Amino acid sequence: VRRAVAVGCGHYLPARVVENAEFEKFVDTSDEWIRSRSGIERRHFAAEGEKTSDLAIAAARMALDDAGLQGSDIDALVLATATPDQTFPSTATRVQAALEMGEGFAYDVHAVCAGFVFALSNASAMIGSGQANRVMVIGAETFSRILNWEDRTTCVLFGDGAGALILEGADGDGSSADRGVLSTVLRSDGRYNDLLYVDGGVSTTGTAGQLVMQGREVFKHAVSKLAAAGEEALESAGLEVDDVDWVVPHQANLRIIKATAGKIGLPMEKIVVTVQDHGNTSAASIPLALSVANSQGRFRKGDLLLMEAIGGGLTWGAATLRW
Ligand code: ACO
Repeated sequence: VRRAVAVGCGHYLPARVVENAEFEKFVDTSDEWIRSRSGIERRHFAAEGEKTSDLAIAAARMALDDAGLQGSDIDALVLATATPDQTFPSTATRVQAALEMGEGFAYDVHAVCAGFVFALSNASAMIGSGQANRVMVIGAETFSRILNWEDRTTCVLFGDGAGALILEGADGDGSSADRGVLSTVLRSDGRYNDLLYVDGGVSTTGTAGQLVMQGREVFKHAVSKLAAAGEEALESAGLEVDDVDWVVPHQANLRIIKATAGKIGLPMEKIVVTVQDHGNTSAASIPLALSVANSQGRFRKGDLLLMEAIGGGLTWGAATLRW
């Protein structure tokens, strides 16, 4: 069995840090409300002119350094984003050019906050089939560009950032002891389009639009769908809950993270939490959290990581990766 093994990761956060208290100046909110309802304390926002591709390129360069590779060593690049630089070309091809990847191919994946899990699944399948041997998987977002600054129920929750993970093909024996991506579970249900969306687009308003969310409704779906996807990812890899060393969840809301961990039966010591410092960075949140935890030396070779995410669509999924 050809496995997709992690050989390097990286992340990038824009320099500007915005504390909760800053929102008190323009919407009726408080640091206390934001902290207690979401766990968020601060987030980073991109500077004027700073693009999603800029964030992605910085994260990708850190991942290449971490792996001891160059752009030309990468066969394929899959970039998850809901906030691309332009309608086309794909943000992925901009990153491809900047990294001087040369031959091979690059494309964007759009599954909003679940985007990284979808991109990871693509990458793992391409490596498994022999279509590519080294794949750069990136999640990068500038959600600050689509926030409605007059809507206190959404503008306080999101942030900008990017994370990258390089996967490389390696032969495994097909057991759950192999290193690499062991399983991925992808789901979506378009009946819930209206719970979380952007009210603009190329073929509708011709504008980028702004984010609209029925937070309470999304919350209701999140815990049960994330826990079910996580359990399915473990089962399909032949793993038990106790085999999990780390959960790297989508960082949307600390209450969702805690409730999902509780439902799966995992203690908080095993959960990587960065939402307090990053807010919800959509497709970037898992690779960002992964890279931050890795820089802190938290993962050991052979550790079993469980990732899970949910976002607009609704779209959700989970993956297991042996580090
Ligand atoms: N400051 C102060 N008060 C606020 C704010 C704010 N920023 N936002 C909302 N309120 C008010 C509401 O108006 C409401 O007032 P009311 O009772 O008078 O109507 C009250 O606070 C409670 O609002 P709820 O929406 O019930 O608060 P809740 O406890 O559900 O928390 C939250 C809201 C944080 C949005 C939560 O529902 C949530 O996290 N939902 C999931 C959202 C999510 O995770 N989305 C991301 C997944 S998909 C993706 O990542 C794109």
